[in-house]
Amino acid sequence: MRRHFLDLFDIQKDEALDLLDLAVQLKQAGPSAAVRERLQGRLLGLIFEKPSLRTRVSFEAAMASLGGSSLFLRGEEVGLGVRESIADFARVISQYVDALAIRTHAHSKVEELAKHATIPIINALSEDAHPCQAMADVLTIREELPDVKRPRVVFVGDGNNVARSLAVACEYADMDFMLTAPSLYKFPADFVNQFTKTFGHAPAQSSHPLEAATDADVIYTDVWTSMGQEAETQARLAAFADFQINRQLVSKAHKDAIILHCLPAHRGEEITEEVLDGPASRIIPQAANRMHFQKALIVWLITGWKNI
Ligand code: CP
Ligand code: NVA
Repeated sequence: MRRHFLDLFDIQKDEALDLLDLAVQLKQAGPSAAVRERLQGRLLGLIFEKPSLRTRVSFEAAMASLGGSSLFLRGEEVGLGVRESIADFARVISQYVDALAIRTHAHSKVEELAKHATIPIINALSEDAHPCQAMADVLTIREELPDVKRPRVVFVGDGNNVARSLAVACEYADMDFMLTAPSLYKFPADFVNQFTKTFGHAPAQSSHPLEAATDADVIYTDVWTSMGQEAETQARLAAFADFQINRQLVSKAHKDAIILHCLPAHRGEEITEEVLDGPASRIIPQAANRMHFQKALIVWLITGWKNI
């Protein structure tokens, strides 16, 4: 059956765990000859309507390492929904590439594409979700804290795409997630409803960053102003002033806590330089895992294999 990867709510816990295991196999052993043979000549399309370093390059590197190739197109070159309808685009591109990753604004655009495509569609970031990021992040947490049975993951900042996907990924990976955010920037009601319906409890949220950070195993943040929200920058700088990851906040966490950030970072805003570059920071191996998870995702979507 053809699968998409649009939002972590669309996959089951056992599928998420299979993907994590596959990522570990690919990271440790590299792609098998059988995988490379199956992916040889396969093409991954990448349509990005927003900038990217990690997501774009890690997908291209992953596909090359698996034996396939990729084709990158900037959003304005194809004019998705502008130059032609999303349905026409989806039906045509499905004949040229074997899977397509899209980075866009409205999540509904990703869903519309998936509805009409006959190939797997991957959400490479929408306003609502960043599922590839979150799965790579739980992979990083498992690797960095192998002896912590149920890590406490505290996301400090905006209840945005990255935070929402991480909250869901933590459920699958048996981690305790909490968002600490100013009240206007907590999770939106539709996300809370879907989360509650799926997992039987609401996502944990707090307005008190120092209290939330107490005994945390992982402190995570992202920019206060996401791509597309630039007009709100000043209001957000003021609203999030007490939600910075700094020495004081980190001092509340567990002594072996790690610091994560999906990057790119606005140094001195959501996180101080000192913490971002400090001994607890794992942001560089975190970014490396984007590629390892995406290898697993490509294998899973294109071949349907759970093992290599
Ligand atoms: N974290 C992340 O998605 O980075 P890019 O925007 O550079 O892809
Ligand atoms: N929340 C950020 C993540 C960037 C990787 C954004 O959407 O811009």
